[in-house]
Amino acid sequence: MKQDLSRSMFEEAQGLFPGGVSSPVRAIKPFPFYTRSAKGSHITDVDGNELIDYCLGYGPLILGHAHPYIMEAIRSQLEKGWLYGTPSETEIQYAKKIRMYYPSMNVMRFVNTGTEATMGAIRAARGFTGRDKIVKIEGGFHGAHDAVLVKAGSGASTIGVPDSLGVPVDIAKNTLQVPYNDVLAMEEVLSAHKDEIACVIMEPVMGNMGPILPKDGYLKAVRNITREYDTLLIFDEVITGFRINMFGAQGYYGIDPDLTTLGKIAGGGLPIGVFGGRRDIMETVAPNGGVYQAGTYNGNPMSLTAGMAMVDFLERERVHHKVNEMGKAMWQSLTDVVRSMKLDYTVSGISSMFQIFFGPQPENYTDALKCDKAKFMEFWRHMLENGVFMPPSQFETNFLSYAHTKEDLERTVFAFKKSLGAIK
Ligand SMILES: Cc1ncc(COP(=O)(O)O)c(C=O)c1O
Repeated sequence: MKQDLSRSMFEEAQGLFPGGVSSPVRAIKPFPFYTRSAKGSHITDVDGNELIDYCLGYGPLILGHAHPYIMEAIRSQLEKGWLYGTPSETEIQYAKKIRMYYPSMNVMRFVNTGTEATMGAIRAARGFTGRDKIVKIEGGFHGAHDAVLVKAGSGASTIGVPDSLGVPVDIAKNTLQVPYNDVLAMEEVLSAHKDEIACVIMEPVMGNMGPILPKDGYLKAVRNITREYDTLLIFDEVITGFRINMFGAQGYYGIDPDLTTLGKIAGGGLPIGVFGGRRDIMETVAPNGGVYQAGTYNGNPMSLTAGMAMVDFLERERVHHKVNEMGKAMWQSLTDVVRSMKLDYTVSGISSMFQIFFGPQPENYTDALKCDKAKFMEFWRHMLENGVFMPPSQFETNFLSYAHTKEDLERTVFAFKKSLGAIK
């Protein structure tokens, strides 16, 4: 695979950006490929290599790259101006549409990233309850802000320690962590810190280490326990919202969280975040209440227009029907390959998300960490050389899009088999 231009661009980038990149996951060793263009299910690098893309901008592009319907919507909005600093009608139309699919989001605020959405939701939960502590799930990712960049020690109620330099210990100590799929640990942490915990924030389906699915009854139990202890439940559906189906994981599993965060697909590929939920909680957000949240680009017409066009298209063309069928075919084919090669790896999937684990099927973060990460990266490189771009980490999810074809899938399964066979 010729990669001379990418290599030299990365050399130059190292003098310009920390680690040569604008976001850490892009720092693929020894160097990342630089993208020239992307269309449909394919991404082409500056050296002319055309790859089948399962990263899809880390999830937002459920219609594939440069989809004409979204492009047209963006183009027509451009003509009308791209930033107003005032409310717009699109805001109202889009919020009503979101609420139709996420009725738990009775009142919402548009922000610009998933990070801002979880930051706003947590602040609203703290403001509403008057409590400082929060609980998150080990290995759950909610963006890169202080309250959620925290790793717990061994026990559920261990005081959180920062996962990043620069996060004050005084902030981290308010973030407690519990393992996913562990009802008892959740019950223990909430009872040990009764009346201290503002909220539990979780990805209902763990997308940042897999996907890892909830065990039967787990989410319902979490909902019941949080109610019992008067703690708010935040579902971070930045990945799963409009991905699993139109209704997200909350619709799929039939759980009503108190607050929800959306992002990624909700912006049609342009930057967006949304947080919303119960009216009484959201009434605490400024200017109505004392929980401050503001932003120059909040509810900007470009992201709203692209997001609304995306939701319209998903609805009209019943996109999930096709991509979820494709997803099932994909993880079944990959599972067949793993079994036929008698390998003790597992393929995990839900809707149009999938991942191969180099180890047994994990149920939580501790399990996921046991997978063979070095082997995964070796496999990943072989996949790239065979024309398939997957997110470069054992702990990310692959995404399918409406633009992927049967031929893409066949080529991917072929590359998968060849790559597994090539691992030493
Ligand atoms: C579940 C989840 N929440 C929040 C975020 C942060 O979103 P953003 O990268 O738009 O800030 C991510 C990003 O991948 C995510 O996966």
